Amino acid sequence: MNVTVLRGELASLETPLLAVPVFEGGTADPAVAALDVALGGMITAVRERGDLPRKEGDTVTLYPAGGAAASTRVLLIGLGKPEGITLEKLRRAGGTAAKQAARARSPLVTVFLPASTLGTQAAARALTEGVVLGSYSFGELKSRADDAPAPVELADLEVVIGTGADQGAVQEGARLGAVIATAENFARNLGNLPGNVVTPTRLAEVAGDIAGRFGMKLTVLGPREMEAEGMGALLAVARGSDEEPRLIVLEHRGGAKDARPLVIVGKGLTFDAGGISIKPAQGMEDMKFDMCGGAAVLGAMHAIGELGVNANVVGIVPSSENLLGGRAMKPGDIFRAASGKTIEVVNTDAEGRMILADALHYARRFEPVAMLDAATLTGAAVIALGHQATGIMGNDEALLEEVRAAGDRSGERCWPLPMYDEYRDQIKSDYADIKNSGGRPAGTITAAWFLREFVGDVPWVHLDVAGTAYGDGKAPYLTKGSTGAPTRLFVEWVLSRAG
Ligand code: BES
Ligand code: MN
Ligand code: ZN
Repeated sequence: MNVTVLRGELASLETPLLAVPVFEGGTADPAVAALDVALGGMITAVRERGDLPRKEGDTVTLYPAGGAAASTRVLLIGLGKPEGITLEKLRRAGGTAAKQAARARSPLVTVFLPASTLGTQAAARALTEGVVLGSYSFGELKSRADDAPAPVELADLEVVIGTGADQGAVQEGARLGAVIATAENFARNLGNLPGNVVTPTRLAEVAGDIAGRFGMKLTVLGPREMEAEGMGALLAVARGSDEEPRLIVLEHRGGAKDARPLVIVGKGLTFDAGGISIKPAQGMEDMKFDMCGGAAVLGAMHAIGELGVNANVVGIVPSSENLLGGRAMKPGDIFRAASGKTIEVVNTDAEGRMILADALHYARRFEPVAMLDAATLTGAAVIALGHQATGIMGNDEALLEEVRAAGDRSGERCWPLPMYDEYRDQIKSDYADIKNSGGRPAGTITAAWFLREFVGDVPWVHLDVAGTAYGDGKAPYLTKGSTGAPTRLFVEWVLSRAG
C-alpha cells in the first residue's frame, strides 16, 4: 500500500472516504471542529441527537452535500474517552476505516490521525498497521462469477495530521506500520493457504524469495542433510508423509560482523492430522494453521529485511507434515534427537515439540544472544488463555518481561505461565531420556519443559500461539483465519533490541 502523510483542512480533502476517529467529546480536536463548521454543524447535530459514535468502534457515516466538503463520505469512528486511548484502539480504528473502504469499493482511504497522549510515531504506526491489516482479504482460491465486479484493492492510504503534529514522526511511524503490517499480511496469507498448497517444500521456496529480495543467506536442509545432522526427532515426524521435510534457515546480517544474533524459530507443521494418535475429524481442517509460527518467522524476516534492521537476526523454520502411513512413527517408538537425547513417543500428536527440538538445538550453533520460538503447540493453551493472549514460558525472567512488553506495544499480548521444576517430572520416561507428552494437566507448560531440554543455556522464551495464530476474525483489522501473530511482536522485539 502507498502511504502518504499530509497536513490540510479535512473539509478540503478530495477522497471517496474520509475516516475521522473521534473521542467521546466529538469536536474537541480543532481539525474536527473546523470540519464540523464546514459541514454546517452536522457533527454537532449528530452529537446533539445522541448518535455520535460514543463507544469505541461505533461508526456514523455522513454524506456531505452541496460541496460542504470535498470528500464523498465522512466516516466518524468512535475512540471512546480521550484518557482511555491506546495504540490498539487506533489500530482497530484503522481496520474499521479499511473495511469501510472495501464496502465503498474505494481504492483510496484518507484517515485523520487525532492528537492524543500517545507518542506521535507510535500512534501513526498503529493507525497505519490497522489500515493495512484491515485491507487484507483471502480470495485467491475463489472463482468470481462472470457478472461479478472485479474486487477493488485498497492501494492508497493518506494519513492526515493536525497543525500540531510532527510530520517527520508521523512519516516514520507510517513507514514502519506499512512495512510491518504488509509482512504480517504475508504471514496471514501463508497461514490461510491450505496444506496441499503450502507444503514444507513450498515454505522453503517462499523463504528463498525473501532471501533473494533482501539479500539474506538461506540454508535449507532436506531429509539427507537432516540425517547427517542426526535430526531423528524431526525425521520421525516426517516419516508418515510423502512430503519431504525441510529445515529452513534465513540469516539477516544487519549488525556488526561478529555480533551474536537474535534467533526466532517457528513451528512449520503444514498439516497436523495427529499421526497414528489421530485427531477427531471435527475441525481437523484447522490444522492447516499448524505452520503459523513458521509463517510469523518468515513474515518477521520479511519486515526485518525491508527495514534493514541494524542487528543480526536468524530465522529458523522446521517444517513437516504429521500424517499416518505404514512407516509413520508409532506410540512407544523411541528416537534420538540431534542433541543426543532420546525421546519416547507416547502420543504422535505431540509432534510440534519434536520438530522444534531439532530446530532449537540447531539454533545453538549461532550462539544466540537470545532466542524466541512461536508454535501452535498445545490445545491446552487455548483452554488456559482463550484467544486473547499468547502463553509465554522461558528460562530467563528479564527476557520474559521483554517479550510481554513487546507484546503489549504491538497489540499481540502475552501472559506468562509458570515453569516450576515439578512440572518437569511429567515428561520423565521409563524407557528413554524423556517422553513427548506429559498428559493433560498443565499441557502447555510440560510442552515448554520438553523444548527447554534442547535450548541449553541460551536465554529463551517460548510463545504458545495455539489460541492467537488464527481465529474468527472478529477484531476490526482481522478476517476469519490466520492472524499473522506473532509477526508484529517478533519485529517489535527485534527493533527494541536493535536500539
Ligand atoms: N497442533 C496441535 C496443537 C493445537 C491444538 C493447535 C488446537 C491449535 C489448536 C499440537 O500438535 C497437538 O496436537 N498437541 C496436542 C499435544 C498432546 C498430544 C500432548 C494437544 O494439544 O492435544
Ligand atoms: Mn499435533
Ligand atoms: Zn501440531
